[in-house]
Amino acid sequence: MSNDNNSLEPHGERLPASATEPIADPGLPEHHWRPTDVDPRAERRAERQIAGMFIAAMAFAVLFVVAYFSLSVGDNWDTFLGMGASTMALGVTLGLSLLLIGIGIIHLARKLMADAEMVEMRHPAASPAEDREATVAALNAGLDEAGIGRRPLVRNTMLGAVGVLGLPAVVLLRDLAPGDELDIDKLAHTIWEPGMRLVRDVVGTPILASEIEMGDLINAAPEAMFPTEENGYEELHGAQEQVDKAKGAIIIVRMDPDDIIPAKGREKWTVDGIICYSKICTHVGCPISLYERTTHHVLCPCHQSTFDLADHAKVVFGPAARPLPQLPLAVDDEGYLVAQSDFTEPIGASYWEREKQ
Ligand code: FES
Repeated sequence: MSNDNNSLEPHGERLPASATEPIADPGLPEHHWRPTDVDPRAERRAERQIAGMFIAAMAFAVLFVVAYFSLSVGDNWDTFLGMGASTMALGVTLGLSLLLIGIGIIHLARKLMADAEMVEMRHPAASPAEDREATVAALNAGLDEAGIGRRPLVRNTMLGAVGVLGLPAVVLLRDLAPGDELDIDKLAHTIWEPGMRLVRDVVGTPILASEIEMGDLINAAPEAMFPTEENGYEELHGAQEQVDKAKGAIIIVRMDPDDIIPAKGREKWTVDGIICYSKICTHVGCPISLYERTTHHVLCPCHQSTFDLADHAKVVFGPAARPLPQLPLAVDDEGYLVAQSDFTEPIGASYWEREKQ
């Protein structure tokens, strides 16, 4: 055994038992060379397989771009397992592209990179200059051993696959820009309509105005999300159900009516201090309900935007750029809370075209 801490013991050496080390080092099992180490044909075959994966990764990245432009988003929701063809195609092509690059790199490491097992003895944690130089030299040696320089086919296809993968990112940036073809109407409206009851989230029971205590915050939903024979709402399915559920989510709070500072034109949107807002943060759309009853502030857990529910949910802190949309409330003949109308502005994260409403 070498006493030099930095020395590397060749694979398979057994260290004898001694007075200070009573248990003999069992060493490493016998080394078996891989087929690609001893058979040039297996090596070339592995090289072609890996290059094939990188080429397929490029093809899937290009197909992502094709799918992005050829399949319209949103109008084909029920095409496949209740999901849109566009969503499916974008996810599958990008996923396969990333997967193939990952598998290709793993195969490169397992089949073609140098297969030498070494034992490095423990050494002090400090890194003197000569160690750092040795590390750089080892990295360079590793690159040499990986054979990337000697295998232009693998190198070029791998770089090509990673490079072409940048295309989807560039294409997706386009969605951040204003666009005339966006169906704003669809984004601006929710399932809420005049007379629809507010029901408790999850259980779907209607809410009596008289049962809400001062300081309460209730997570609620539109009654249409809980269709029964009695209420007559139609059953919703697939992506449409998810969209309506997400866009219709609300929070209801009760506070002293004298604390409420209504926005102009919203003086009759509350019922005895009961006020209702969209549950979806106007920053990037997280659901919010962290409520502080003494200040009437509600906090979004994602990036700490804070809204003052007494003052038409105006933003008092954080990155959100506009108040939470308010749902106008009334009570029906039986005393249950109902909506006076849909929201009068788009809910959720802001977008360029919102001002066109
Ligand atoms: S999503 Fe609410 S603060 Fe960012």
